[in-house]
Amino acid sequence: MTDRSWPFIPNRAIEITRAEGVHLYTRQGARVLDAAGGAIVANVGHGRKRVAEAVYKATLEYGYVIPPWRTPTRTALLEALDDWLPSELTRVHITSGGSEANEAAMKMALQYQHALGEKSRSKIITRDISYHGTTLATTAASGHPKRRKGLEKVLTGYPAADTPYPLRCPLGAHHADAGAFYLESLKSIIEREDPDTIAALIAEPITGSSGGALIPPDDYWPAVQELCNEHGILLILDEVMTGFGRTGQDFAYQHWPVTPDILVGGKGLAGGYAPLGGVFATETIGEALESGGFPVMFNTFGAHPAACAAGAEVLDILREEKLVSRARDLGATLAAHLEEAFKEHPHVAECRGRGLLQAIELVRDRESLERFPIEDGMTDKVIGAALDMGVFFYPGGTEAVRDIICIGPPFIIDEAQIEQMVEVLRKAVDEAVQ
Ligand SMILES: Cc1ncc(COP(=O)(O)O)c(C=O)c1O
Repeated sequence: MTDRSWPFIPNRAIEITRAEGVHLYTRQGARVLDAAGGAIVANVGHGRKRVAEAVYKATLEYGYVIPPWRTPTRTALLEALDDWLPSELTRVHITSGGSEANEAAMKMALQYQHALGEKSRSKIITRDISYHGTTLATTAASGHPKRRKGLEKVLTGYPAADTPYPLRCPLGAHHADAGAFYLESLKSIIEREDPDTIAALIAEPITGSSGGALIPPDDYWPAVQELCNEHGILLILDEVMTGFGRTGQDFAYQHWPVTPDILVGGKGLAGGYAPLGGVFATETIGEALESGGFPVMFNTFGAHPAACAAGAEVLDILREEKLVSRARDLGATLAAHLEEAFKEHPHVAECRGRGLLQAIELVRDRESLERFPIEDGMTDKVIGAALDMGVFFYPGGTEAVRDIICIGPPFIIDEAQIEQMVEVLRKAVDEAVQ
């Protein structure tokens, strides 16, 4: 068979014919431990019959219904979301993925400022290591050189602040003043651009695969929120990768005392069983858009009844099986195993993460943090070697930031499988750096 797709992992045309629990099975019968949960998506694991049945029922009973109308599965999803969203976020817009959701969130922020009469607020601040999606606007907002290639001239120039990267903080690795340093970077961008021209800041509370589970210093987010409030800048938090339990909290921002004006979810919302994303905004934003006559246009396939069915089931499973606290506890176990395996490794700068979003960063030299040359393709080598040993990890980095291996298994993973993952990762790293 000719492979006509765009291969994500070079030179590997893989065909999966079955998936169950934390495992994928190839046509040739090989079993692969899905340490990446697909693209850090499959939070409740594969092969959940009740999700498939709910999708089947919705498809059979009402198939396609225009997004603004209710269906029982849309109602079920909204009811399930009640248990997840903070009380401030009352307005829900359901999309078919993360890019669409971020695009909608950015449009809402711009239109909201317009509705307030703040017509000069046309800029969205972004951060230099980030990923927000595939559309032109979300690619423009992404600090991801590899995915911007060839588009630089057409991408709107959003001003980018430094993403907190404690390991490589210019003051020194994990410096006590790192939070203040990264806050200052944001402050200076806001001042340089003129705060009255800025509509919103879009950011991932814990940077996902672009940086490899970058955890900001504890004083960063509360200070960012204060700064945004002071200047009338909306805070859009992109939790497409981190939302719905991945980091051991319902949402990653809950690790700190902050609340977004607009929260964006995707991936784990339907656990990979259907394309689903969501934009969750405050009542203030909803009312301003409504009274100003600003449309929040639906996508034809937004809030698809079958996708909503999958989302409602997946959210119920997460709660019934207490999988968020499991992600927190097993995340701590995974972090401890990673630390044990790599703490002395000459080519691993650090292991980092929260809950079941963890990463390791490879370097040529551990002291100076010098990276391997791009041409060495270290990430692909590690991912390839691990796949040969039956474990799939998720490649991270942006090219400028590189040699990041992300780990984001389903929350149903057990301790023996965690040990297997870490053992394989250790062998794969050793093989790749040789
Ligand atoms: C943080 C973040 N935002 C947005 C996206 C884009 O979502 P999607 O691929 O569903 O369009 C991703 C995808 O990896 C992501 O990780």
